[in-house]
Amino acid sequence: MQAPEIIELPKFLDDRGNLSVIENQKNIPFDIERTYWIYDVPGGEKRGGHAYTNAQEFIVAISGSFDVVLHDGEKELRYHLNRSYYGLYVPKMTWRELENFSTNSLALILTDHKYADTDYIQEFDDFIKVKNG
Ligand code: TYD
Repeated sequence: MQAPEIIELPKFLDDRGNLSVIENQKNIPFDIERTYWIYDVPGGEKRGGHAYTNAQEFIVAISGSFDVVLHDGEKELRYHLNRSYYGLYVPKMTWRELENFSTNSLALILTDHKYADTDYIQEFDDFIKVKNG
């Protein structure tokens, strides 16, 4: 079972503006099957609050900042994302919630599975039960 980790991305600094890049299996440990983004989050709102049975993901604060709060079944882990040149790898079967969005923040999420509501574990108690077998 892989662990959550911050992954630094290539960064091409340039007087004309900077550039970062993500390639499948090179910068992230999976092939991207779906990309979505969360934006215009009102102050104080939270997103997520579930786990995925199969999908792993990589989350980048393309703009602004927010916190990603993870639970691996044993402990809570909190990450503050505020740069577009690194992101958080989240393995499957990790409880995850996004909160503390700054004004105009943009959360980019890359994942290796197509959308399927059957992949969601919506209740934390169910997540803990599945985690503990
Ligand atoms: P959801 O994953 O429940 O977002 P959050 O947990 O942050 O509240 O998704 C919100 C809505 O968007 C839900 O109706 C399903 C839909 N959705 C898709 O259709 N495709 C997707 O890839 C995602 C992530 C969500």
